[in-house]
Amino acid sequence: MGLATRCAAAMAAALCAGTALAQEPQPYAERYARTCAPCHGGAGVSALPLTPSLAGQPAFYAITQLFLFREGRRDSAAMTAVAREMSNDDLRGYSEHIGKLPPPPTSPADADALRMERGAALTQRLHCTGCHGSDLAGGRQVPRLALQREDYLLHALRGFRAGSRVGYTPAMTEALAGVSPAELEDMAHYLARGPAAKAP
Ligand code: HEC
Ligand code: HEC
Repeated sequence: MGLATRCAAAMAAALCAGTALAQEPQPYAERYARTCAPCHGGAGVSALPLTPSLAGQPAFYAITQLFLFREGRRDSAAMTAVAREMSNDDLRGYSEHIGKLPPPPTSPADADALRMERGAALTQRLHCTGCHGSDLAGGRQVPRLALQREDYLLHALRGFRAGSRVGYTPAMTEALAGVSPAELEDMAHYLARGPAAKAP
């Protein structure tokens, strides 16, 4: 818990320290278009396998993850290369830009009704909505899941389940304890297509 607390404090400081950003959002929009858009998409909707959409992610979640990449605590060759040289201002600037990208517009049309049903039931039963929100849109340091790429969601879930992705809190490892590989697949299928159920 000590580490998590220190980490959270460092990130909060990085995010909150500057107020200058509000006056100059432009440079990071441009830098995002140049540096990040080739992988994550200009509007933050990714068309690349295993590459997450960033659209609709809370700024605080984005800065948390950029921090973890920069410190080498979240493993990704692509993102480590990108984040290694980032200053705290960069973490903040990119994250603020990401936080302004509207969520992905629509879900893929190829929903499998049975898997959608199973996935929806699992996210209720396992209390995913308790942290990620009833609309699964996330908030603060908790990521948006709705309409994320299915392949990436499955990769992330498997990573937490196997312990190869370490969050800054044990929340996800605990949430997935005892969940089967097939259940992870059903949840990824469901989440990628958004919660159809408005208010269960
Ligand atoms: C070469 C491709 C590539 C480039 C360029 C790139 N990214 Fe990424 N990014 C990835 C991949 C792949 C992942 C997923 C890593 C994983 O599986 O853990 C990722 C993950 C992320 C995440 C975490 C998202 C989540 O849902 O957890 C953030 C935030 C992010 N990138 C921001 C950026 C920013 C900001 C830039 C530009 C400065 C950038 N990326 C440039 C490929 C890229
Ligand atoms: C106690 C709160 C909590 C619960 C319950 C929870 N999550 Fe999470 N989840 C988080 C946090 C916090 C993160 C950010 C990971 C980190 O620590 O870096 C996360 C990350 C994720 C990610 C990675 C998203 C990305 O963009 O990389 C996925 C996928 C996910 N959760 C799915 C689920 C599912 C499915 C469930 C239910 C089985 C669930 N979560 C339950 C808090 C929670």
